[in-house]
Order: sequence, then C-alpha cells, then structure tokens
Amino acid sequence: MTSLKKYPLIKFTDVSVTFGFFEALKHVNLSFYRGEILAVVGDNGAGKSTLLKVLAGLYHPDEAGGIEHNGVPCAINTIQESRALGIASVFQDQEFCDNLDVTANLFLGHEMKDEFRRLDVSKMEDEARRVLAQVSSPIGLRKPISTLTKGQSQMLSIARTLLDDPEMILLDEPTASLSVMQTAEVLSYIKKLRASGKAIVFICNTLPDVFAIADRIVVLRHGRINGLHKTSDTSYEQIIAEIAGVDNAAGVMDSLAHSTEEPQMQRFDDQKKLIDRQDSPATETDFVSGSDD
Ligand SMILES: Nc1ncnc2c1ncn2[C@@H]1O[C@H](COP(=O)(O)OP(=O)(O)O)[C@@H](O)[C@H]1O
Ligand SMILES: [Mg+2]
Repeated sequence: MTSLKKYPLIKFTDVSVTFGFFEALKHVNLSFYRGEILAVVGDNGAGKSTLLKVLAGLYHPDEAGGIEHNGVPCAINTIQESRALGIASVFQDQEFCDNLDVTANLFLGHEMKDEFRRLDVSKMEDEARRVLAQVSSPIGLRKPISTLTKGQSQMLSIARTLLDDPEMILLDEPTASLSVMQTAEVLSYIKKLRASGKAIVFICNTLPDVFAIADRIVVLRHGRINGLHKTSDTSYEQIIAEIAGVDNAAGVMDSLAHSTEEPQMQRFDDQKKLIDRQDSPATETDFVSGSDD
C-alpha cells in the first residue's frame, strides 16, 4: 500500500472532451491525491461538471488524452468502471424516501439480507453506524428521514457512497442551496473524509467555502485550466481574476466592491469560525500534496 502513495490516485494527461465541434475540456493535466480536498471553480459552462463526469465514467476523453490510476494507465468507460477504481459520486438533489428511516434510506436498492433472505436490519444498522461515524457525530438510525436537516441529508448522500469504501469522492456543489449553518455542517463532514485519507474533488462557486476547506484550487475557464494553486498560496483576488480571465484582479475587486453582492471576505471569516466550532481538533490533517507539473 505505501508504495502507492508516491503516485497520485488519478492523473489526467492532456484530457480533452469534445461534443461535436465543441470542446468542453481542453488539454487538462491534473492529478488527484489521497487525503486532499481539491476545489474546482469556474464560471457557468467552464467545464467543471464535465471534469467530474470524466472521473465518474459518464463522459469520455478524446483519444489523445490519458488517465492513470496509481500510476497505471486505465480507462473509465462506465460508471461501473469508475466504481471499480474506487470513485464515488454525489450529484445534486439525491432522492430519499420520506417515509423510511435513516438506515433504510442508506441501503435503498442494495438492502442486506440474512441467510433466510429476510432484511438483516441489525447488520445494516452496524454498517450504517460504521459509515456515519466517518462523517458525522451520531444521528439516530431509526429517525424518519423527514426529521433531518438539509445539511444532514446532504451528509447522508455522502455517507451512502461510503458503503463501497471509495478512495475518491466527487461532489458537485454540495453546499448549493444550504444555509450558512448547514453549509458549515457539510464542510465539516467533508473535512472528516479528508482526514480518513479520501481524495475529495468538489465543485463549488462559493469562494468562502472553497477557501475554508480546500487544499488546492483549480480554476477552469472555457474548458482550460486557468490556474492551479495551493489554497495557502493564493488569494480571493487571484482566483476571481482567473475565473474572469483578467490579469488585473484589482479591477474585478473594484467592480465587485460597487456591486450589491454579499461581502465575501466577511462570510469567509464567519464560515471558518463555524466549521472550527464543529470540528473535533483531533481529526484534522494538514497534509497538502505537491503541485502538478
Ligand atoms: N452532453 C453534452 N453535450 C453537449 N454539450 C455539453 C454536454 N455537457 C456539457 N456540455 C457543454 O460543455 C460546457 C461545459 O459544461 P459543464 O461542464 O456542465 O460546465 P460547468 O459545470 O462548469 O457549468 C457547456 O458549454 C455545456 O453546454
Ligand atoms: Mg456544472
């Protein structure tokens, strides 16, 4: 196992995705590491979801591109092949059955049976406890799903992927449409996943959330990587300039300062405080992988 650590979990070399004449991803070189939260940012249509869908086996790169898994060339042609590589995805708006409890929803569609082919509730509850412990403080396994907060049900979507013990988890805007408190809750779950060594790739356009938890930030613009940084080595101004495709961030910030949008820096500070409050300090790792070539 340890020898695998020198390789990125997944490495993209010159990955492009074309739809007809339209290139949604252009020559992307990017590595994904264990124990790292990589945030993917960019304007609408920049190619963020396309990037995740390549990892999920839903979209296929053009022939020139290559994908490696632990240093070994591989293809991700289907969702099943993606799963077999240990990649799990949480796309937006996962459905739950309101009339069922937490455990039943976790195992929806792949219920565990005993030797008499009866539902093995105690086995499922043990397994539910195991995966929930990886992301959150205990929640009642027999609680109806309707009693959970939006943040908790987002966490449940994430926990559901943990049943397969994935190495990489893909999250497409996990904090969209959540309140500030619920967002802090979900971000603290994501940090716990990193602490357990998973590679996390998360699309998020709320920069305070990105700066609060990401180890690295990749900026996509018109399908290209327009910036790749360790979070500690970059700034709001730089990321916003790269999203917008301008050199002079001061100009962007100036025009933002005159807009009516929520002041982002203030929200960033608040968010960090909230997450810190929810974290148990022991789960924190400060591991940041090396940057890409
Ligand atoms: N299946 C598809 N067929 C054709 N065009 C697509 C398809 N999926 C995405 N695109 C196009 O690729 C571009 C990038 O899309 P997407 O990755 O969803 O952007 P983002 O998630 O950054 O908003 C968009 O212009 C989108 O219209
Ligand atoms: Mg998208």
